[in-house]
Amino acid sequence: MESDGNRADGPRARVERALSGGGTLAVEVEGRADRDDAERLAQRALAAAVAEVERPAPKDPLAGPIESYAGIVGGSPAMKQLFHMLDRIKNSDATVLVLGENGTGKELVAKAIHAQSRRAKEAFVATNCSAFNDNLLESELFGHRRGAFTGAVADKPGLFQVADGGTFFMDEVGDMSPALQVKLLRVLQEGVFMPVGGTDTKKVDVRIVAATNREIAEMVKTGAFREDLYYRLHVVSLRVPPLRERREDIPRLVGHFLARLGARDGRRKVLTARALAALEAHEWPGNVRELENEMERVWVLSGDETVIDEDLLSPSVRRPRRAVSAPPPPAAASVAPALDLPAGSLPDAVEALERQMITNELRKNKGNKTRTADALGISRRNLIRKVQGYGLEDATGRGDGDD
Ligand SMILES: Nc1ncnc2c1ncn2[C@@H]1O[C@H](COP(=O)(O)OP(=O)(O)OP(=O)(O)O)[C@@H](O)[C@H]1O
Ligand SMILES: [Mg+2]
Repeated sequence: MESDGNRADGPRARVERALSGGGTLAVEVEGRADRDDAERLAQRALAAAVAEVERPAPKDPLAGPIESYAGIVGGSPAMKQLFHMLDRIKNSDATVLVLGENGTGKELVAKAIHAQSRRAKEAFVATNCSAFNDNLLESELFGHRRGAFTGAVADKPGLFQVADGGTFFMDEVGDMSPALQVKLLRVLQEGVFMPVGGTDTKKVDVRIVAATNREIAEMVKTGAFREDLYYRLHVVSLRVPPLRERREDIPRLVGHFLARLGARDGRRKVLTARALAALEAHEWPGNVRELENEMERVWVLSGDETVIDEDLLSPSVRRPRRAVSAPPPPAAASVAPALDLPAGSLPDAVEALERQMITNELRKNKGNKTRTADALGISRRNLIRKVQGYGLEDATGRGDGDD
C-alpha cells in the first residue's frame, strides 16, 4: 500500500511496503520541505501506516466450542494432563492434595473431583483453614458442645459432620497450626474426631480434598508441616499450572468469561486481536482469577460498545506501544504544508480505507477470497465477514465472488 494523501503541490510522504502482515516500513519525503516539517510529515505518514498494519480485526473467541473438562476450561498440554489425572481418579475415594498458585483454579478442581465421584449427590463442603484462628477453626471443623466456651450456647455440628457422606474441601491447609494438624491426622487415619468440649468421638465418612498455594514439601523439610499428615493428604497430588505456563488457554478462558458475562447481561461482545494479544502476553501473577476480574472490568468499562479494544485493559495488562522511529532528514528543505488527512471520525476513515483496500484486492484477485485474504493478511473467514458487512459481494471483478 502507498500512503500519501498530501497536497498535490506540496512535499509528499510515501510509505513503502506498509504491509498488512507487518514487516519493514520505509518512508520517503519527496519535494521541498525543511527538516522539521519533513520529519513531521514523515512521522504522520508512518504513524498512519503503522496504525493500519496494527489495526485490529475484531476477534471472536466465542467462535466454536470452548474446550473444557467438568467445568474447567483448558486445552493446553498441561491442562490436558490434569484432566487425564482427574479422569483416572474418578472412581477412587482417595484423599487428594491440590497444589497451585493463587487463582489457578484449585477450588474448581476440587469441585470437579467431587462432581465426578460417587459422592456427587452428597454435600460438597468447603472451608478456608487460614480464615480462622486456631480455636475457631477447631470448632468450625469438629463442632462444639454447648458450654464448651463463652458464647457456645448450643451444640453445633462441625463441618466434618455436615460433609458426612460427601466431600470436604480444606483450602489453604498449609496454614494450619501444628496442634490442628494432629487432629486432622486423626480424622484421616481413623475417620473420628471429637467436638470441642465433647467427651465422645464421632465417626464420619468424608472424602478429603485439600489445597494449598504454599510449597508444602519445603514446609515438611523445615518442620512447619507434619510429614505424616503430608503423606496422608498426598495420596494423590495434582498441580494446577500457573496461567503463564499455559498461555494457549487464555483465548479459551476469555471466550468462556465473555460468554458467561454475555449470558448474564443478554448481550455479546468481542475482543480485538490486539486486546487478545495483550492478554496473551501478560504474566498473570494472579492467574485465572486475575483474568476473570480483568474481563469483568473491561466488560463494564466497554458500556454499549460491542468491540473491546486494548485501551480498555488495565495499565498493567496493556502492552507498551511500539515506537515509530523517525525517518532520516530529507536533502532538500522548505516549508511543508500540513498533511491532508481524511476528515471526519477515525472509525469512519478506517472503515473507508478498509472498504477500499478490500475492494481493490478483490478486483485484483478476481474475487478469489483466499488470495485476497492472504494479500490483506487476514483470515478468509474474517474477510467474508467484512465483505458481507460492507455489502461488497459485487465488488469481486467477476460477479461470482468465490474461489
Ligand atoms: N480453568 C478454568 N476454567 C474456568 N474458570 C476458571 C478456571 N480456573 C479458574 N477459574 C475461575 O477463576 C476463579 C479462581 O479459581 P479458584 O477459586 O478455583 O482458584 P484457587 O486456586 O482456589 O484460588 P486461591 O488460591 O485464590 O484460593 C474462579 O472464579 C474460577 O471459577
Ligand atoms: Mg481457593
